[in-house]
Formats: sequence, structure tokens, C-alpha cells
Amino acid sequence: MDKLNQVLLHPKNRVGADLDAWLSYVGGDGLQVALQDPSALVGLIKEAHLPGLGGSGFPVHIKWAAVAEQKKAVDKYLICNGNEDEPGTFKDRMLLEETPHQIIEGATIAALATGINQIVFYINPDLDGCIEAMCVAVAQWQASELVEKVAAALKKPLTYRVMPSSGHYIGGEETAAIESVEGKFPFPRGKPPYPAQYGVHGCPTLVNNMETMANVTHLVRNGVQWFKDQGIGKASGTKIFCLSGDVLRPGAYELPMGTPLEDLIYKYGGGVLLGKKLKAVFTGGPSNTILTPKDLDVPLDFDSVRERRSSLGTGAMIVISEGTGIVKRVSEYVDFFAHSSCGQCPSCKTGTYYISQLLGKIDTGRGRQADLDSLENLCEILPGSGRCHLLDGAVKVLESSLYHFKDEYEQALRR
Ligand SMILES: Cc1cc2nc3c(=O)[nH]c(=O)nc-3n(C[C@H](O)[C@H](O)[C@H](O)COP(=O)(O)O)c2cc1C
Repeated sequence: MDKLNQVLLHPKNRVGADLDAWLSYVGGDGLQVALQDPSALVGLIKEAHLPGLGGSGFPVHIKWAAVAEQKKAVDKYLICNGNEDEPGTFKDRMLLEETPHQIIEGATIAALATGINQIVFYINPDLDGCIEAMCVAVAQWQASELVEKVAAALKKPLTYRVMPSSGHYIGGEETAAIESVEGKFPFPRGKPPYPAQYGVHGCPTLVNNMETMANVTHLVRNGVQWFKDQGIGKASGTKIFCLSGDVLRPGAYELPMGTPLEDLIYKYGGGVLLGKKLKAVFTGGPSNTILTPKDLDVPLDFDSVRERRSSLGTGAMIVISEGTGIVKRVSEYVDFFAHSSCGQCPSCKTGTYYISQLLGKIDTGRGRQADLDSLENLCEILPGSGRCHLLDGAVKVLESSLYHFKDEYEQALRR
């Protein structure tokens, strides 16, 4: 097996909440570079093409630049998003528990770049040990002279706060996270205004994922060319892929961005369980278009997966083998989305509920042709009618299962 390209998950970085151990290896170097010229940081992130790793792949520099532009604001917030509640996604919990300092360093560099003075680590309380590790790590930073140097550069005090999220999946959506930080139920907000203009308590707010923050530390330390060299082809950096489902060696694999799907499943994951044939891969967590064996050659980076009309999402890859019923799996995922809907948008609440009912009927052999027709109709009318991406994600996975595996739905009707 090829060597894993471990940067974030390099064993020497996995020192837990021990600041001295972190600083004795690569820790602190990125921050020193950042302190030399904070005004160059947004440009550096832009040149490196760092994508947001929380699911969308949205270019990080665009949000950073938008927050940095807000020069008059007294307070600016950074929410480091560790809500991680999506099925099949388990990367942020590893970073939080095993390497909290590289996240804090990346967040501190982001603060320097954008003039942020309030950093909130927003963490799902169901991720065992993560809040505890982060609290210990943050206390060590607060007692260190590193923070004083940053505050001097910012010309204002820098505060860190560790906050448990509500644990709801929807609470990970960026505007819902803002509501949560304000102490409210995580209902997503309509956009615009965007968080960079009007976020926590009306202040400019940046929301970035934990893996994104951890990458910043190494990118700034090692430079743009190094970062580009970590990826394959046009892709830059590494990605933590969460491999699960019917695969021999499930787990979190940090690999070059752009690693082919086939390598992830067969070379690193040991192939499909019991030597069975691959049937499908739910990506992202399961809120994207399903990949099939025809897509085994796809390089796992945001652009390449998008060209296959799917999305890399969080990097979760849930492997499904021949013999596993697709209708049941889709039904389970849609149940999750229906259960997670915040209820604010009627189309989402009733739409996901209705889809879940229809799928349950069909999967248990009680369905009729009219139910299948209704599902197809819902795929046409629902997308774009919710405030956030939850409803669209549920529809995407349903729609692509109907496209690739319609025969299984029809078989279920005949049962
Ligand atoms: C329903 C829903 C749940 C989400 N959950 C998370 C999450 O748990 N963690 C996360 O980083 N992003 C999550 N996102 C994406 C965020 O809205 C946002 O794009 C992300 O935190 C930005 O960070 P990035 O630019 O570093 O990717 C979610 C989005 C939606 C629609």
C-alpha cells in the first residue's frame, strides 16, 4: 500500500491538548510567518486555492476577504464549525480530540488575516472528548505569550470560547450556527445579508470548518507551492476521507486531494467486503448524487466530482456492495433528513416527511405506482424551496437513486 500523505493526521501532530508538544514539532511556525505580514494572508490563501472543507468546497479566500473588508467593525467573529453530525462523517472529531492545537493555530491565523477578535469553537457535544480536549488546549493558548503577540498585531484583545452546539444536524449550517452562538435555536437565516456582513450580533462573521482551519496552519507554515504539491493534478492539499459502509478497512484516510475513488476503496480500504462487487457510493455525507462503479476513476477533488454531477462534500464515502438494497438505504438517509429538518420552511418539513413516508411504503412492499410517481414529482418541485441545503440534499440522493436504480423501486412495487 502507498504511504498515506499525512499532514494533519501525522503522528507527530497527534499530541492531544499538549501545547509544549505541539510547539516542539511544527507548531507555532505558521503563526510566526503570519505575524510577519498579516496583510499578505488572504492573498496567500487565494493563490493556494484552499477550498472550504466543511462540505461546499467554497473558496476560503472569498469569505476571508469579505470579513477583512469590514474595517469599521469593533467586533468580528470566527465560528470554527465542529458540529459534524452527518452520517458517515467523522473527521473533525479526530482533529479536535487528537490535534486541537493545529486548529487553534489556524483559527488564530485566520483572525490575524481578517481582523477577527472573537473566536468561537462550536463543537457537537456528542463527539466524545472533543469539547474537553479543546477546553484544555484553549486554556493553554490563553496563558501563552503567542496570544499576546497576536493581540498586539490586531491592536485589540483576542478571545477564545469553546461552545457546545445544540447537537442538531441543522445547527452545522453556517447561519444556524450563528443563531446558536447568539443563544437561540439553530434556525438557518435567509441570505443575504451574508455572515461576512451581518453575523453574530450583527457583526461580521466568518464560518469555517475545523479541517479548513487545520489546513491553514500548515499552508502558511510551508507556503503555496508546498500546498499545491500535496495534491494530485490540479488539486491542492490533502483531504481526510471518511470511508465506511461495505468496505474491508473503514476509517479516516488523509490522502492527496485528487486521489482516485478506486484507490481509496481498493488500495486503502482493502476493497468491498466479502469480495463482492461495488454497487454504489454515497458521498458527502449522503446528501449528494450517488456515484456508481463507472465513477471509480474520478479524482476525489471538488472540481472533478462536480463534473460527475455529484459533490465531494465532507469527504465521506459510504460504500454499498451488490446485494444491498438501495431503496432501504435511501429511505434511511431521507428519514435522517426528515428528522433533522428544523421545520422553519414548510416545503422542507413536509417535503422530507412525505418522501420518507413514500419510501417507507415502497421499501416495505406496500407501495403503488402512484407513490413512485409522487416521488418523481417531488424531485421536480421541491429543490430550491428551502432556506438551506438540507431539503436539496435529501432530494438529490433520492433523485439519483431513481435515476440509477429505478429497477429496484419497480421490483419493490411488484413485491
Ligand atoms: C444542513 C447543513 C449542515 C451542515 N453542517 C456542517 C457541519 O457540521 N460542519 C461544517 O463545517 N459545515 C457544515 N455545513 C456547511 C456550513 O454551512 C458552511 O458551509 C461551512 O461550515 C463553512 O466552512 P468551510 O468554508 O470551511 O467549508 C452544513 C450545511 C448544511 C446545509
